[in-house]
Amino acid sequence: MKKTKDGIAPSDALVLFGVSGDLAHKKIFPALYAMTKQGVLKTPVVGVASSKWSLAQLREHAEDGIRKAGPIDDRPALDRLLSLLRYVAGDYKDPATFNALKKALDEARRPAHYLAIPPALFATVIQGLGAAGLVDQARVIVEKPFGRDLASARELNRIARSVFPEDSVFRIDHYLGKEAIMNILYFRFANSFLEPIWNRNYVARVQITLSEDFGVNRRGAFYESAGCLRDVIQNHLFQIVALLAMEPPAYQGFGAVHCEKAKVFQAMRPLQADDVVRGQYAGYRKEPGVAKDSDVETFCALRLFIDSWRWEGVPWYLRSGKYLAETAAEVLVELKPPPQMLFDDSAPISGRANYLRFRLSPNSAVALAARVKRAGKEFVGDQAELYLLDEQPGEEAPYARLLRNAMAGDGSLFTREDAIEAAWAVVDPVLKTHHRSHPYKPGSWGPKQADALIAPNGSWHNPILAKTTK
Ligand code: BG6
Repeated sequence: MKKTKDGIAPSDALVLFGVSGDLAHKKIFPALYAMTKQGVLKTPVVGVASSKWSLAQLREHAEDGIRKAGPIDDRPALDRLLSLLRYVAGDYKDPATFNALKKALDEARRPAHYLAIPPALFATVIQGLGAAGLVDQARVIVEKPFGRDLASARELNRIARSVFPEDSVFRIDHYLGKEAIMNILYFRFANSFLEPIWNRNYVARVQITLSEDFGVNRRGAFYESAGCLRDVIQNHLFQIVALLAMEPPAYQGFGAVHCEKAKVFQAMRPLQADDVVRGQYAGYRKEPGVAKDSDVETFCALRLFIDSWRWEGVPWYLRSGKYLAETAAEVLVELKPPPQMLFDDSAPISGRANYLRFRLSPNSAVALAARVKRAGKEFVGDQAELYLLDEQPGEEAPYARLLRNAMAGDGSLFTREDAIEAAWAVVDPVLKTHHRSHPYKPGSWGPKQADALIAPNGSWHNPILAKTTK
């Protein structure tokens, strides 16, 4: 058996549950194409779905997804990928589906089962794999959201762990595979100048915005069962918070990073209804699959505290929404102003004091803002940004990186069971008890109540619109 350099055997097949779905079409096939081009995907790829498709139809579906994601620049690689595809049609509740899968896997002994399916079916498929004896030396990659609250996440972890050992369970959050987000970890701990100021003595507040200028598209039914808090905040945004807030890992190795990230979630104060503003864009109730009287939030803003020695008293403001003014993701770590106002235009009069800005999307950048004197006899200045990083060519798509890692048995960019449960524990109270959603106009920055939430501590930083933003 060929092993990786760590002595871990790589998966020898990829099983894609939900192969006929949107995620597979838009993200996974393009990622598999990239992996084939890199020469890292050579194993069979077995698609599973309920659609009664022929293999030819699956190939068409795959090629269409790849074509829509970008130009086909390597036809032989695409043909190689298409020739790796196999297809099993069947109901996930039916043991016959898993028997057919076993047959399709043929010689493969160490499959990676990727569950790109509605969350309500995760447990069914994991149990089906267990009952069919498809788990020995196998791995399971589970899409988000992992659970829909603390109790269901615990239950799902229990089921997953009764079938697979923890190091064979890969809880995916594609944000962890993004260059700009991986750079937060690198930037914090590959430099020494940040550490002295990276705490409650110097940081006034932190804010993170993930905004999208489109609606729920064809995902109305999914959104009805999820909402913005479950869809992107409890996972994507919380992961960013953990990377920004964690203590330095005690040793070199990703086990230490997992431990420190889990501690951040454990130190987060559970949210209360008044910490959260929920919004819903006008027109959402007319989307297909959405209830006419739906209260589900398409926008969510919240105030969070991390009760740790480092972060005590520092508010973290998180915000995300559909149909906002821009599509962008950005972090702003705002530092406290100088203790005395020596100049007439010192902060806070001049606006924000020094800050560190991490642009995560659509491009990546890190910028450090400082005030610099304008030429002339007056002591007045302007805010300028030291611009540290820009788009890097050759960025790998997150799904390609994460699938490659999972198939190699490398769990460094995945989430551990304790971290998932601790993150759910923070949002659990407001899943049950919350204020009603406030309507907002598509193309705006959400309901005005979100501005009131941050008002005691300043104002939201809108990515792109800031004049210093690239
Ligand atoms: C997904 C959410 O996890 O992340 C979507 O389900 C959201 O609602 C998407 O649009 C955002 O990801 P990205 O990579 O496009 O920023």
